[in-house]
Amino acid sequence: MDEQSIISKFEPNKDNMLNILHELQNNNQNNFLTNEDLKLVAEYLNTSYSAVYGVVKYYSMFSLKPRGKYVIRVCKSPLCHMLDKEIVLTEIKQNIGIDIGECTDNLMFSVEASECLGYCAEAPVMMINDKVYTYLDSKKIKEIIQNIKLND
Ligand code: FES
Repeated sequence: MDEQSIISKFEPNKDNMLNILHELQNNNQNNFLTNEDLKLVAEYLNTSYSAVYGVVKYYSMFSLKPRGKYVIRVCKSPLCHMLDKEIVLTEIKQNIGIDIGECTDNLMFSVEASECLGYCAEAPVMMINDKVYTYLDSKKIKEIIQNIKLND
């Protein structure tokens, strides 16, 4: 679906900015928003480019650079961090070879640090695209990544 068609699904109301940005980003095969996307949203909502840019920069789920098809968000808030002891990042690095802030060369995976994902009682936690994975340990992380690679 082209960008203008996505935007037109929403009323031109600033309250819809986050939803529009989400849809545009989800529609992009590399999981990011382009400058053109931001300009279109600003024009449609009758606001400034800098207002849209500010929203995109504020929320960590938005990206202005290409990311992997699978965006892995690792919770680095205190509780997960305390229980995790770097198991999650170590296992991710062993299985896909990248660290936080990096993307695989084939644009399949990106890894990002996240604030609390809201599942503290089930820590350590990570999220891959819209799915949350809890009670992580090395074995579980390896299985999750292998399953994605096998089924993609
Ligand atoms: S601290 Fe990690 S999910 Fe809340």
